[in-house]
Amino acid sequence: MYNFLIKNINQSKGQVLVLETQLNEILREALSAIGCAETQNDVELLRVEYLGKKGKLTLILRGMGKLSDEEKPRVGKLANEVREALEDAISDKKAYFEQKSVLEKLSKQTIDVTLSGKKLPAGHEHPLYLVLNQMLEVYQSLGFSVVEGPEIEWVKYNFDNLNVPLDHSSRDYSDTFYFTDDILLRTQTSPVQIRAMMGKTPPLKILSPGKVYRNDEIDATHSPLFHQLEGLIIDEGITMADLKGTLDYVAKILFGEETTTRFRPHQFYFTEPSAEMDASCFACKGKGCRICKGTGYIELLGCGMVHPNVLRLCGIDPDKYTGFAFGMGLERSAMFKYGISDMRLLFGNDTEFLTQF
Ligand code: DAH
Repeated sequence: MYNFLIKNINQSKGQVLVLETQLNEILREALSAIGCAETQNDVELLRVEYLGKKGKLTLILRGMGKLSDEEKPRVGKLANEVREALEDAISDKKAYFEQKSVLEKLSKQTIDVTLSGKKLPAGHEHPLYLVLNQMLEVYQSLGFSVVEGPEIEWVKYNFDNLNVPLDHSSRDYSDTFYFTDDILLRTQTSPVQIRAMMGKTPPLKILSPGKVYRNDEIDATHSPLFHQLEGLIIDEGITMADLKGTLDYVAKILFGEETTTRFRPHQFYFTEPSAEMDASCFACKGKGCRICKGTGYIELLGCGMVHPNVLRLCGIDPDKYTGFAFGMGLERSAMFKYGISDMRLLFGNDTEFLTQF
């Protein structure tokens, strides 16, 4: 029994020596092979040969199973050192080849600075904005300046100060999106008039484009979100003649010199008198066609002389100042201008449709 143990220890001692020699041998052999490797691929093959699942180092480590518990850490430590040294040598050599190949590529590459750049597709102005920008340009040339207001608005500014009666149907929950009893999504751009007039001394000459919201089902001519353009002039001595002259002049610029306009009586609570303005159809010149539905005219906007109550509610003396206002739907204008029959086309992002204009 005793003899047997000694024999085993000796055998095991012998085994440690063998493994240590083998590990040193592998280290020497592998480092020299890595040093001689000529390509990235050579290095990878060497990695597999020494460190792979069936690699030389791995096989030796498997032989450690026979060692005693005291011997294992000694050989294990050496084996780890050998593995780390090989891993370092391999990754250094790989990095060397990578850098070499980048440098080679760079030295071969020449850049032709005379080549023209790649053309990126440029965006296209939306038909709504084409119409809006054209209108802004004309009105701005007449001295109007653009003023914007919030889309989330006080009920007071959207209805009360605009002289809209408390029982008017446009105030209903079924027509308007309310946040609270006092706050809503504006149903028109007219509250910007109120904001422009409050605490200011005329003259005022403003233009206000923006989104408005109504509780409507979506169809070919309705959308819960649409755009309006609002205009307002307040000064001493402004009359209905100024309103007609200005709007007629703009229609002629937008639709052509031969365009005629007509004013039909209408009712808005914030203007008195109020009117709707039609322009002779630009497509058929008033003869009647598909675009004007045979009438020869297209309905363009609502307008009127600012109601004295509105001026008073904004702190402006109606005995000293008068003014006119107008408002129009931009979707409608774009649909007329471009002969678009369905409003939904303006909200779909179909670039094939949109790039036609
Ligand atoms: N706010 C009106 C609407 O949404 C449009 C309008 C009509 C605006 C007459 C005005 C105006 O400023 O004078 O139907």
